[in-house]
Amino acid sequence: MAHEDLKAHLEFFGELGVDGVRLEPDWRVRPGAAAAPADAPAPAQPAQVFRSAAGAVAAIREDLGDCTRCKLHGLGRRQIVFGVGNPDADLMFVGEAPGADEDIQGEPFVGRAGQLLTKIIEAIGLRREDVYIANVIKCRPPNNRNPEPDEVEQCEQFLFRQIDTIRPKVIVALGKFAAQSLLRTTDPITRLRGREYRYRDAILIPTYHPAYLLRTPSAKREVWEDMKRVRAILRGG
Ligand code: URA
Repeated sequence: MAHEDLKAHLEFFGELGVDGVRLEPDWRVRPGAAAAPADAPAPAQPAQVFRSAAGAVAAIREDLGDCTRCKLHGLGRRQIVFGVGNPDADLMFVGEAPGADEDIQGEPFVGRAGQLLTKIIEAIGLRREDVYIANVIKCRPPNNRNPEPDEVEQCEQFLFRQIDTIRPKVIVALGKFAAQSLLRTTDPITRLRGREYRYRDAILIPTYHPAYLLRTPSAKREVWEDMKRVRAILRGG
């Protein structure tokens, strides 16, 4: 890492309230993560048998197609933003919906909030490509308005299928909308965060949205607390 990059990285750690850095990557090792033997039976799926999570995720993308299920397809979306990352990830992040940058690039969390999310991922010793990142809604709502209930109703089945295929140990719900939508609650994010929820075979940890952190840097400390808990769960704690 170049000197300037390292300096920026350490400054960010400082901002997050991190008082030390562990260099050893041992916690990244996933128990039982060794590849299955070539002759291992593939897990049964309702309709098709997939040899890999990557194949199963690709099939979900194929089923989504050039989606016109909700009105967002006619409200200026440039492209569907399906999700990105490791289909075998232990850690999954779920946001709200694509913004302008994501709509252009076709990838979730690539704008300013996304760059902060990448730093948050790196702060717990992972790389962006180690995790899986998706949104509740796959198309950009006009003027970044909140997704509407009929849009969520049409779209969330694809997120559920992504979760059930990737089978992460931990899901981090980024912000009020994702947390409320997944947990089927109207409780405020201030009440939801700081706790853990069982969710579709995973542990769900709600935290503040990175866009909120850009406006309210003091909340980074709480996000760091949440991310330390994520790291501990991934390590088996
Ligand atoms: N905000 C989100 O919730 N998701 C994105 O992909 C980008 C910004």
